Amino acid sequence: MSETGRTGGTFEATDGGSPDGEVWIVGATGRVGRGVAARLAARGLRVVPVGRSRERMSAAGAEAGLPAGVRMVVADSAERIADEVVRERPRVVVNTMGAYAATAPVIARACVSVGGHYVDQANDVIAVQGLLALHDEAARAGSTLVTGAGFGVLATEAVVAKLCEERPVPHRVRVDSVASVAVEAGALGVALATGIVDTLTSGGRRYDNGRLVASRLGADPRRLVFPDGTSAKSAGVASGELLAARAASDAPFVTAASSLAPTSPLLRAVVPLLGRLLSVPALRRLAVDRLGRVTVKAAARPREHSWGHAVVEWADGTRREGWLRAGEGMAFTTGVTATVTDLLVRGAGRPGAWTPAAAFGHDLATTAGGTFVLD
Ligand SMILES: NC(=O)c1ccc[n+]([C@@H]2O[C@H](COP(=O)([O-])OP(=O)(O)OC[C@H]3O[C@@H](n4cnc5c(N)ncnc54)[C@H](OP(=O)(O)O)[C@@H]3O)[C@@H](O)[C@H]2O)c1
Repeated sequence: MSETGRTGGTFEATDGGSPDGEVWIVGATGRVGRGVAARLAARGLRVVPVGRSRERMSAAGAEAGLPAGVRMVVADSAERIADEVVRERPRVVVNTMGAYAATAPVIARACVSVGGHYVDQANDVIAVQGLLALHDEAARAGSTLVTGAGFGVLATEAVVAKLCEERPVPHRVRVDSVASVAVEAGALGVALATGIVDTLTSGGRRYDNGRLVASRLGADPRRLVFPDGTSAKSAGVASGELLAARAASDAPFVTAASSLAPTSPLLRAVVPLLGRLLSVPALRRLAVDRLGRVTVKAAARPREHSWGHAVVEWADGTRREGWLRAGEGMAFTTGVTATVTDLLVRGAGRPGAWTPAAAFGHDLATTAGGTFVLD
């Protein structure tokens, strides 16, 4: 196996541009938003927190190292945030408020309307598809929209792109995303609760002969043994990783799996019923609300590393396997979003709507702190 990576570097803008204009961070009090704000402030960018509570934003801003009296935008819905974007024309909007299927198109369209750029960490099929559908609109306006700027999408699409480089179109691809995340004490939060409920209701998906078709959530569970000797189970899930792996390879048969999908026979048996129940709007709202209020205790990450994994097979029987090794999953996500934002603010993005490696190449994963381990 060979390893390639570098850590902590700053991606150079292709046009050598300097940072210019404001970077709005929607959800600056949240876990990803706080981390991104701290990294961007340390790089000297003009960070503007956007959210529904001035007090909470002030406290989070101080923690992130933003200057006292930093300008803030108070708005409490995607629509109100979009209105402010149109009025004030920030250079880049970082959307970490979650519920991306609903919030991402609203905020991204506002960015496009003023020729600004946009980045989020969406990871479900509907949200990623919805954002990528704005490609032509964004290209015409000269805006760059990046969705899936987090561990899941980048850590898997980057490995697929690396394995497929200068090779013919493969026949089959499987990707696995195994994030190792430290739990912060406190309420789970609506953003994460929405993600969990959406995963349960959307079931599974896979590409079958080039067509996106339904499959079972938790399909094809496997135990992965990582290059460092540790292991975890991973099973099928409908995710942004699936769309990104298909786009990076063009393979007709693609599956995506995650360690967050249910792998035990009992859970896999009850999940379809649970999904149907949670599809009822009133039950969905109740579940998101209750789950979002659940408080959890702080816990260390379960493994030292997070792993993105891909197996690529060609029609002639050739098979290649690769990994992206990263550290704590949330820290990697924060690093990916900060790196992408830095590039966007410097004018280094191609106009259009992309997943992160499609926008900036697979080496974005090493710039954000990952290391490729390839066979
Ligand atoms: N793709 C990946 O690999 C990846 C990795 C990590 C996270 N994520 C996703 O990224 C998202 C953010 O995660 P997180 O852990 O940072 O979530 P979080 O800690 O719950 O933060 C959510 C933020 O959004 C704000 N917010 C929520 N509703 C709002 C509204 N109506 N108006 C204005 N602001 C609002 C919250 O502000 P308040 O303080 O007002 O509540 C908070 O600042 C989640 O959807 C998560 O699933 C993806």
